[in-house]
Amino acid sequence: MLEARGLVYRYPDSSRGLEACSLAIAPGSRNALLGANGSGKTTLLQHFNALLRPTGGELHLGGQALTYSRAELKALRCRVGLVFQNPDRQLFSASVEEDVSFGPLNLGLDEATVRERVAAALAATGMTACAARPVHQLSHGQKKRVCIAGVLAMHPEVLLLDEPMAGLDAAMQRELLTLLDDLSGQGISIVVATHDIDFAYAWADRVHLLQAGRCLASFAADEWPAWRQTLLAAGQPLPAVLELQQQLQRLGIVDSAPARSLTELVAALAEKPADFAVDRRKEV
Ligand SMILES: Nc1ncnc2c1ncn2[C@@H]1O[C@H](COP(=O)(O)OP(=O)(O)O)[C@@H](O)[C@H]1O
Ligand SMILES: [Mg+2]
Repeated sequence: MLEARGLVYRYPDSSRGLEACSLAIAPGSRNALLGANGSGKTTLLQHFNALLRPTGGELHLGGQALTYSRAELKALRCRVGLVFQNPDRQLFSASVEEDVSFGPLNLGLDEATVRERVAAALAATGMTACAARPVHQLSHGQKKRVCIAGVLAMHPEVLLLDEPMAGLDAAMQRELLTLLDDLSGQGISIVVATHDIDFAYAWADRVHLLQAGRCLASFAADEWPAWRQTLLAAGQPLPAVLELQQQLQRLGIVDSAPARSLTELVAALAEKPADFAVDRRKEV
């Protein structure tokens, strides 16, 4: 669907953004981009929707190298939507409705279609009631949702989110997760740049680990344990649930397949008979 092939990027001040970065996003997949601060996550996302043009290498969309012609850029930005880390960088219209309408209007869609898309995007993000409100009066979490609505109104095939959980409280994080689940249920590919390794472990089916502008590893969700050393070397701890599960397995307390979340692990433990721990003590 979307593939970085040996992308190199130098910022105007010649600092290194990307260094031969290669990775692929499969259709309908849930991807986590992991990596320390400055590893190139934001720079890569900005290449994925061509806000930045690589100094070297190629970006492929649907198997074709992007030539960065006007027509191709327009098509790419319809198919691949980016939600910035900072909503204030993304929102610029006076009202919520105006902001979400901007993209579809720019596509030259007729008014009725635009209205329909905007209403659907606001409903999907739970922002219908705020449609007429001035953007500057919204909370950070609400602004974030307006940004997502603006991208959804374009009907993208790929949704890119840069640190979407940052600055959201726990309830808002849960709501965002539900929204991401809905969207990936509709077949949209999602790429989330994140520092939150536990979220990545619970949510992603594919992980891409960046370090110093390169992709060190791309692996499937069931391969986390095998990449332990690489993750540690790139400054990323193992997910807490996985560490705990491995310890419990070593102690013979759980033997089920790895849990993806603390809730799942607790459920597996709850299935153990109440006298299990006492019996184990006798054995020891
Ligand atoms: N506007 C910029 N000008 C110069 N260097 C930049 C700029 N933005 C990012 N960089 C550099 O590019 C590298 C990758 O940064 P970034 O993509 O922001 O990483 P991440 O999102 O993983 O924290 C870092 O070394 C960073 O200092
Ligand atoms: Mg970043």
